[in-house]
Amino acid sequence: MRTQVGIVGAGPAGLLLSHLLHLRGIDSVVLEAHSRDYVQKRVRAGVLEQGTVDTLVATGLGDRLLREGLVHHGIELRFGGQSHRIAFEKLVPGRAITVYGQQEVVKDLIAARIAAGGRILFEVSGVAPTGFDTAHPSIGFTHAGLRQTLECDFIAGCDGFHGVCRPAIPDGVLTCYDREYPFAWLGVLAEVPPSSEELIYAHNDRGFALHSMRSPEVSRFYLQVAPDEDVASWPDERYWAELRARLETVPGWHLRTGPVLEKVVAPMRSFVAEPMRYGRMYLAGDAAHIVPPTGAKGLNLAAFDVGVLAQALAAWYADGSTGLLDAYSGTCLRRVWRVQHFSWWMTTLLHAFDGYDGYDRRLQRSHLDYVCGSAAASASLAENYVGLAHV
Ligand code: APR
Ligand code: PHB
Repeated sequence: MRTQVGIVGAGPAGLLLSHLLHLRGIDSVVLEAHSRDYVQKRVRAGVLEQGTVDTLVATGLGDRLLREGLVHHGIELRFGGQSHRIAFEKLVPGRAITVYGQQEVVKDLIAARIAAGGRILFEVSGVAPTGFDTAHPSIGFTHAGLRQTLECDFIAGCDGFHGVCRPAIPDGVLTCYDREYPFAWLGVLAEVPPSSEELIYAHNDRGFALHSMRSPEVSRFYLQVAPDEDVASWPDERYWAELRARLETVPGWHLRTGPVLEKVVAPMRSFVAEPMRYGRMYLAGDAAHIVPPTGAKGLNLAAFDVGVLAQALAAWYADGSTGLLDAYSGTCLRRVWRVQHFSWWMTTLLHAFDGYDGYDRRLQRSHLDYVCGSAAASASLAENYVGLAHV
């Protein structure tokens, strides 16, 4: 089997890359370990930056997104018995976020690729990228019981944090930076209308809580829990009670509850591998970097990477120029590190840390007061949250 760009992983990064390449007349094959049904149902984050929405709309993927996505012009920070709104319409005029589940983006991308005759092979195993230090890379894989080789000009490692592409790069090439957090998020998807029009990020001595949503009928919640928390120790009643304790802290605000559709623990981690390229292997999305979900940046960063990569590959196919390909890692890492900082900062600002003494807690509270009370500090949060245009 032969293609121009062999893509490992049918998450948002791999699928969007395949779509963007197709629009530039470049052929690709996507190899995915899981089934189509699995990747379309996997519940992940759900906040799209303005720039991500613009990319999806400009490339023909805006139909359902513009119809069903919920455009939000602000978020709420709740602490100390009060709510504070970060008003995007005032602080970053013309920019907003759109709440639209990541698996909806994935569904739209798969539908578009299949409608265009794109090749996505689901349920492949034994994926083995080789030869990417030469001009003739290839990817070995097994599909429907048959061992095959995909020959290509380039390999795009879009196979997430636990994929095979990053580990296939020889030892000593990559430098990895990481940070683990002393907590995780216990996420619940529930069949209940949102109790608020906008997302609520709540800082509380009991721990952080987030009220998000997916649609007018479905809400999404997160609770800060211990990193090794067992979902089984959180029956629904306990979950709702804890969410109430952390969110119902302002007069007159009540949490609506309903049937729980899903409950999972998500670890919190920051990670960056540098550079994001070795020879003809290019890493994009979670394969190269992870952020804690507090700033809702994972999908947006993945979309940015593949936008840069598609453009660089198009330049190479147009006239053999390597300038943009050579700049790929540096261009992406500038944004990656900005987002690393923002995600770490939001996480540190909002969570309860076990080891904090009175001094640490007062610093954190002063920081929260400043972010909400100063127009400059609010604008800094707002411009990072909706997505910086210039990095
Ligand atoms: N072979 C084939 N496919 C693989 C392999 C493998 N060895 N390992 C992983 N994959 C697939 C996974 O099954 C998954 O579908 O690669 C895909 C990677 O997708 P994501 O994990 O969604 O990563 P990415 O596309 O970079 O998207 C980043 O997704 O994880 C969230 O929070 C993250 O929102 C961010 C976004
Ligand atoms: C979500 O809706 O899943 C979500 C929203 C905001 C975040 C993280 C996750 O910061």
